[in-house]
Amino acid sequence: MLKRKHFRYRDIDALRAEIAELGLSIRLEENIEKLLEPVQIGHKVAGNAFGIHPMEGCDGTLDGKPSELTIRRWERFGRGGAKLIWGEATALFDEVKSNSRQLIISDETAGSMESILNLTRNAHREEFGSNEEVIVGMQLTHSGRYSYQKPLIAFRHPVVDKVTLIDKKNKIPIPNDYPVLSDDYLERQEDIFVEAAKLAWKIGFDFVDLKQCHTYLLSELLAAKTRTGKYGGSFENRTRFIRNIVGKIRAEVGDELILGTRLNVYDGVAFMQDPETTVGVPRDIPTPYLYGFGVDENNPPQPDMTEPIKLVGVLKDLGVKLVNVTTGSPYFNPHIGRPFERPPIDGYETPEHPLIGVDRHIRLTGDIQRAYPDLPVVGTGYSWLQQYLVNAAEANIRDGRVSFVAVGRGALAYPDYARDTIESGEMVKKKVCVAVSYCTALMRAKANPLGQFAAGCVPRDKIYAPIYKEAEKTLTKRD
Ligand SMILES: Cc1cc2nc3c(=O)[nH]c(=O)nc-3n(C[C@H](O)[C@H](O)[C@H](O)COP(=O)(O)O)c2cc1C
Repeated sequence: MLKRKHFRYRDIDALRAEIAELGLSIRLEENIEKLLEPVQIGHKVAGNAFGIHPMEGCDGTLDGKPSELTIRRWERFGRGGAKLIWGEATALFDEVKSNSRQLIISDETAGSMESILNLTRNAHREEFGSNEEVIVGMQLTHSGRYSYQKPLIAFRHPVVDKVTLIDKKNKIPIPNDYPVLSDDYLERQEDIFVEAAKLAWKIGFDFVDLKQCHTYLLSELLAAKTRTGKYGGSFENRTRFIRNIVGKIRAEVGDELILGTRLNVYDGVAFMQDPETTVGVPRDIPTPYLYGFGVDENNPPQPDMTEPIKLVGVLKDLGVKLVNVTTGSPYFNPHIGRPFERPPIDGYETPEHPLIGVDRHIRLTGDIQRAYPDLPVVGTGYSWLQQYLVNAAEANIRDGRVSFVAVGRGALAYPDYARDTIESGEMVKKKVCVAVSYCTALMRAKANPLGQFAAGCVPRDKIYAPIYKEAEKTLTKRD
């Protein structure tokens, strides 16, 4: 079947026309000014409002240290001109990595994490003469249901459990008697988070991200409405874990270390590929739907921002100084979090125009930012806009819908997007991410001796072309 090409705009006005036709709220501003201004985060200042999202390359050593490819990526980000560099997912310990090559924070890896941090800052200084206003963070993660050795689940999910695999090779889902993590286990994880944050601070990171997104453990806990015990049910119980660790870290470290969180404000519902059309369709879901955070229980495809807005207020009062807003699950509804032009080889075609996905990100992030105008809020989901992403970013900052705009896939393709925009007022068309999902496909490719292929931008960064060629042979069907 010939698929429709969505991104086909002659110029910015053609994009504006389609936004209007679809009835969306995205605004594009041509004079880039606000993006160039410094932004205060706690006691530090980021020199501009450009950011780089956490983007793992699944290329660490098997014991959780950066490899040459990891170092190369961080250095490219350092040289790129964005002043907010949000370090990639770094696991608390081996069992909770999401893939065999994810980074780990531990006494054994601390030295190499310090080197990569210094290298990133030095690279920035080499290019721009100073690195004082570059803010670099470490994202602390427990992969929960998506831990690479076996699923570690916070609650039984009637829809997602069916595609949560205990045996990935033979595609066998977790059985009916598969256990959920105990309260004792979660209590121990709280202390492990606190120790990891302390170590990140000792290493010298400006901030830590207590990762609560993309349906990993802390994100799943926010949705644990059906869980019994002190971490489930009420809003208070579901937010106990994050509230406890924020309190403990502040008590032990004080305010020198900036606390941030990447937060799913809308989980969405699970999708699958329609075998006839190959387009994504929602799986059968029960209503009321008690299994998602930020999801309207009575109309589950729709967001309900009541709890996410409340949670950000609670976290702000507890001392969280930076919030990166995101949505969806890369595992069961990838079009929500990463609006794409083409899916990975084993994925479904987008069920909505990608602009609708971009607009959802912008609207939900705007809801958070407008509720807390003084809180630095980072926006997500811009890469599909290609060279016009900075125009949407500029408009959103002017309109009070966001404080920083960061790019994810766009930074793998074009790590110096900020520098070009600062120098010329626009991005270079031939360098942009085209959202064709090779990076995602590489992330999913596991069939090699290391248990994981390295992920990067195949169309724009030529060292990934041979890696993709190898990986592609292993990726003919969904795995
Ligand atoms: C290859 C790849 C690696 C990613 N790694 C992370 C990660 O380590 N932590 C995280 O929170 N999100 C991660 N993401 C999600 C992105 O940070 C981002 O939310 C997503 O790509 C949407 O933003 P974009 O439209 O700018 O790409 C990853 C996405 C991709 C495709």
